[in-house]
Amino acid sequence: MTGLAGIIAGDTAISTVGKESAGLTYRGYNITYLVDHANFESVAYLLLYNKLPAPEELNLYQKKLMSLRRLPEKLLILLKAIPQTANPMDVLRTGVSMLGILEPETPESIDKLVAILPVILLTWYQGQEVTNAQITTADYFLYGLNELRVKPSDPLFSKALDASLILYAEHEFNASTFAARITASTLSDVYSCITTAIGTLRGPLHGGANEEAMKLIQQFDEPDQVEAGIKRMLSEKKLIMGFGHRVYINGDPRSPIVKDLARQLSEKVGKQKLFAIAEIIENTMWTEKKIYPNLDFYSALVYHCIGIPTSFFTPLFVVSRITGWLAHVIEQRSNNKLIRPLANYIGPEPRQI
Ligand code: CMC
Repeated sequence: MTGLAGIIAGDTAISTVGKESAGLTYRGYNITYLVDHANFESVAYLLLYNKLPAPEELNLYQKKLMSLRRLPEKLLILLKAIPQTANPMDVLRTGVSMLGILEPETPESIDKLVAILPVILLTWYQGQEVTNAQITTADYFLYGLNELRVKPSDPLFSKALDASLILYAEHEFNASTFAARITASTLSDVYSCITTAIGTLRGPLHGGANEEAMKLIQQFDEPDQVEAGIKRMLSEKKLIMGFGHRVYINGDPRSPIVKDLARQLSEKVGKQKLFAIAEIIENTMWTEKKIYPNLDFYSALVYHCIGIPTSFFTPLFVVSRITGWLAHVIEQRSNNKLIRPLANYIGPEPRQI
């Protein structure tokens, strides 16, 4: 058995993945319902506090997150010193690590981490602390991204980014969440759990796939080049990024939602050709391999149409998934047992020099 495929590695009450009747649910709520009736902050509250907030609770929680968008002075200095050539995932990992030095864990750290990740990212990007009075994480991010370029944001951009943050928020024992739980199981601090998870998400087989998917879509100038190009890549045994999933066999339930947003956005910003290219990639993958797109594929197009730089795609995954990671750290701690499996030894028999 490789990669622990099919192994149930523990209990969770946070989400269901791949249960055909339930689809994907967060604490019992279907993701389609959440995208239609909630925003990212209410989903964060649901994951972390185990209930959807009433309107007044949401109001208070959003205000609390806004008040926590403050960087300690030394973290601000550090972020300004990190070169612009850095990988933004490394910036997030380092920013979280530094925050753990400056503000060791307290009960407040959970909400602080949810609030601070976009601030870390944008402050490094803009070279100055990004302060704006936007209520939601999606709007804070969109306004912060455009701060120096004075480009107005569009309501569809906010809606699409918010929906994407909901869809990325939680996904049971995926690699980064499981890594965070392993760190939590040693009774380590929350910052260590989150830096572990960020490092695990960074790879292209996991969160990094959304950036690779965008590069794939952009490889093609015209839709009529796509089918042959994908077939060639498959014949060369190349992975087509943004396709396939360890758990979902009949398709990723998040994909149709994000695909619809990608279609709307591509029409809005005049990038229909990119959408057409993406659809032909999807159709070719189905015809050739019977493999479906996962969340990362059309999310890439959503972010691109909004005007988000490709190197920010995986960091946005972090901005969202931090809520799931934290929920799992809390759950792991609530009934902890050190996660320490066995290895199947395949090395030499005992020997002497
Ligand atoms: N492109 C081409 N072939 C693929 C792909 C793909 N994207 N995904 C699976 N296959 C093939 C694979 O080559 C293998 O073929 P064969 O049996 O002939 O060797 C077969 O399908 C089974 O794949 P696997 O690699 O054994 O499946 P896995 O469960 O180990 O891998 C995966 C799951 C997600 C790592 C894999 O599908 C993949 O590498 N996809 C591309 C990267 C990607 O999109 N990652 C995002 C995952 S979902 C969201 C997230 O975590 O960010």
